[in-house]
Amino acid sequence: MDGPASTAARFRLDRKRSSGTRGPHVLVHGDHRHALPWFAKTFDGRVKLAYLDPPFNTGRAFREYSDTTDEWADEFSRCLEGTVPLLREDATVVIHIDEHELVNALSVADRVLGRKNRASIVTLVRSAATGHKARNRGVVNVADYLLVYAANRKAWRPNMLTQTRSEYDWAYGTAIENIDAAPSKWQFVTLRAYFGALPRDELAARAIANAERIIRFAQPRFDAVGKRTQEWILRSQKNPTRVYRLERPGYSDMWLRGGNRILFLRDKITERGGKRVLVEPLTNVWTDIPFQGIAREGGVRFERNKKPERLMARLLEWVTSAGDIVLDPYLGSGTTAAVCMKMGRVVYGIERGAHFDSLIAPRLVRTLSEVGDLRTDGFSVYEEQSGT
Ligand SMILES: C[S@@+](CC[C@H](N)C(=O)[O-])C[C@H]1O[C@@H](n2cnc3c(N)ncnc32)[C@H](O)[C@@H]1O
Repeated sequence: MDGPASTAARFRLDRKRSSGTRGPHVLVHGDHRHALPWFAKTFDGRVKLAYLDPPFNTGRAFREYSDTTDEWADEFSRCLEGTVPLLREDATVVIHIDEHELVNALSVADRVLGRKNRASIVTLVRSAATGHKARNRGVVNVADYLLVYAANRKAWRPNMLTQTRSEYDWAYGTAIENIDAAPSKWQFVTLRAYFGALPRDELAARAIANAERIIRFAQPRFDAVGKRTQEWILRSQKNPTRVYRLERPGYSDMWLRGGNRILFLRDKITERGGKRVLVEPLTNVWTDIPFQGIAREGGVRFERNKKPERLMARLLEWVTSAGDIVLDPYLGSGTTAAVCMKMGRVVYGIERGAHFDSLIAPRLVRTLSEVGDLRTDGFSVYEEQSGT
């Protein structure tokens, strides 16, 4: 039996394999069944994101580990139970899985973390039905899934994530000709009337460049708004040519005309790479993170199991801030750790395989030499002692 006393004795700081013991990152070469209770004793309640990317139980034998077990649910359950004591109240847990153990993963996570804390299931499109797969009968599996849970849904405050729209949103088809005039004098005209008879892509580019004056009308959801707002909507219906501006404490102003809301294109615009782009809220289907071309990412090969750095960057952006602690008890080739180092997060990582030394350590030394100082920004390595 592993008690707290024995777990403390199991882990020994290995200065030779550490890149710098003054650095914030902690890596354990060992089994997370033992390492998680040890982390919990030392770092209780401080993790902001736990990313769990367990073996998928595909039945395959990889160079680094065998991906077959009859006890998948028990093993995963122990890992998740070991993770919970480390979490902050506002933490997020993301479980990365494919179709093989999706149902087991969901049922374990619902039990351990609570169904009410399940925030989303993201479908992550990782490949396409091309090549030999295209000849399969039946459907081709091209997706992984991210099971996203809050430690406590009431305390959960993820950041707003957006994605660039691939096409202009033609609902925004009206320009305010005289935006500098008082709203009561505003003249509403079509995009073509305002910009001239341009081809559609040019018209879209002009609209984005002039987003401050481009709008759409949208019917408000009468039942979903408060009594005061309902009264203004009715008033606006009675005076259809007048523009009303309704100030709402804690919310953005509401603009009304003819009983309809006026929505401004400027609220859908952001700057990316020095360019104004049209964005929309991210949905729970992610198709924009390529898995192709990552075989050599981070300078390491980890056949089939490596996840894209872009995926980790999105998760970190979504639910963490600079300085937050991220736990990865299935470190694999060290993707989570590398991206944490690049983005100023602190990583606690655990990996039991021999690839800890052949893949993770060299990858992180390389990463740190690119983005930081090996001694002060580096990682400590703790080795699990056998037989303690
Ligand atoms: C799918 S891979 C993780 C891949 C990783 N996200 C990446 O991008 O490289 C799963 C990893 O979990 C490790 N693992 C499985 N069970 C473990 C355990 N009980 N303790 C520590 N590591 C474990 C395996 O050795 C393997 O490297």
